[in-house]
Amino acid sequence: STADLVLGIETSCDDTSVALVDRGGRVIACETVSQFDIHAEFGGVFPELASRAHLEAVLPTVSKVLKVVDGDISRIRAIGVTRGPGLIGSLIVGVNTAQALGLAWGKPVFGVNHLRGHLRSPDLEEKRITYPALLLLVSGGHTLLCHMLSATEITVLGTTRDDSVGETYDKVARMLDLGMPGGPALDRLAATGRAVHRFPRPMIREGYEFSFSGLKSSVARMLEKDPGVDRADVAASFVAACLDVLGTKVRRALGEHAAKSLVVVGGVAASQQIRQLVEDICTEAGIIPCLPPLRWATDNAAMIALATWDYVDRGAEADMRTVPSMALAA
Ligand code: KG4
Ligand code: ZN
Repeated sequence: STADLVLGIETSCDDTSVALVDRGGRVIACETVSQFDIHAEFGGVFPELASRAHLEAVLPTVSKVLKVVDGDISRIRAIGVTRGPGLIGSLIVGVNTAQALGLAWGKPVFGVNHLRGHLRSPDLEEKRITYPALLLLVSGGHTLLCHMLSATEITVLGTTRDDSVGETYDKVARMLDLGMPGGPALDRLAATGRAVHRFPRPMIREGYEFSFSGLKSSVARMLEKDPGVDRADVAASFVAACLDVLGTKVRRALGEHAAKSLVVVGGVAASQQIRQLVEDICTEAGIIPCLPPLRWATDNAAMIALATWDYVDRGAEADMRTVPSMALAA
């Protein structure tokens, strides 16, 4: 049989994920083991426990995925693994596993930037991105606004000066005692409230840079001053402020950069309210909304495998170099 699949491995944070993806982005198999139960009691990801859980889960997950192709390793063209950014102990488990499998099977191994995985996620299962495109990446670790001429020609327009959007959602969720995972719970609560409080919109008038720590503190102050305040209204007002900032910057960028589509990726792209905002902006601007299907918005190995194809297709040499986390271009 032909070597038509890339094996992707993702262990940058708290999900052990392994996938087989073909050149067209078809997901043949994807298995993700969540460490949710392990970290819930700490109210955040505990790095030491994350590494150990990856170590336990990674090979069984590889085996499970390989069963889908009856263990036919000849179908694997290359192995792609997240090399960063992420928790170092967690990354090492994935990278070492990928390198060992590559050595044993005689397959090339590519280190893939996690953010590159996210930005390729809307092309999983079906090609959706039309270039040039504007990209908004909103994950737990990063907030980036970029202009893309192709999957590899990317200009970063702006990033955050402090917290990311996902981090801010998670911290505000903790203030509201919403439990873990915070972002989705806050998103759901906000949908039931009224945006009656006027929280600040940091840096909304300036360019493409973001800042969210002032907004977060402002929510904390309100909860301190008025502990009885309606939580759903606070959540709705917080989300309204976030969406106002994100929407304003995206619209500004669309006014200044040619784009046929708006690509929104990263865990926060699973938010129904963000998805609605994207639809609204695209209708207004007459461009195509490109969102990953819900299951590919949060961390997964399928997006890493698809991003690996960009290297394989260019005939790139197997490469595990570490690059600065902002180096999005292949
Ligand atoms: O991309 P991701 O899975 O991991 C990183 O690369 O960081 O993003 C995780 C982030 C978390 O902050 C989580 O709270 C947020 O995405 N998130 C959401 C939703 N689902 C995940 N935020 C808002 N609404 C959601 N439905
Ligand atoms: Zn991620």
